[in-house]
Amino acid sequence: MAPALPPTSSTVTLNINGEKHTLTVDHRTTLLDALRERLDLTGTKKGCDQGQCGACTVLLDGRRAVSCLQLAVAAEGREITTIEGVAEGDRLHPVQQAFLDLDGYQCGYCTPGQICSAVAVLEEHAAGWPSAVTGDVRPEAGPPPLTAEEIRERMSGNLCRCGAYVSIVEAVARAAADGEKHTEAAA
Ligand code: FES
Ligand code: FES
Repeated sequence: MAPALPPTSSTVTLNINGEKHTLTVDHRTTLLDALRERLDLTGTKKGCDQGQCGACTVLLDGRRAVSCLQLAVAAEGREITTIEGVAEGDRLHPVQQAFLDLDGYQCGYCTPGQICSAVAVLEEHAAGWPSAVTGDVRPEAGPPPLTAEEIRERMSGNLCRCGAYVSIVEAVARAAADGEKHTEAAA
């Protein structure tokens, strides 16, 4: 008798935008395909499907990740945030509002990924993470000013075929400034 083959699918429970979704997936299914094809969360976009364009960016435990390079089965137990979960109810996230106000898009296809990335960029910057263009990376130097050069570098994993980069950088800078105002007001 032929030996039993190992299973090729598993039932997983994914925690997405604060809700649990249980589904059976082939082990080769990417998180991106599970979101779009199985759960109807089509805000996350498929561009290259090979980790190069950033259109599929989501947040995993608060850090950005390209969902086309994540297996759905490996995302069990992680806190997954997609573009559908970035706003707080009817209140847009400051990054979403800034993209809207400053036209940080043209066709909009890359926009969900840009926004998820930018949300994480602001948190990474606030936590003092340097980037490849940060001049003084000593921890005691503190976070570098979020200049256009810093924003361009930190957002460089997200491509925009429409070339809306000028407005995208302005929108991220505006959202960062709004966040600082809120922090100062709360202090
Ligand atoms: S679709 Fe995932 S990086 Fe392009
Ligand atoms: S707005 Fe069209 S690809 Fe970026």
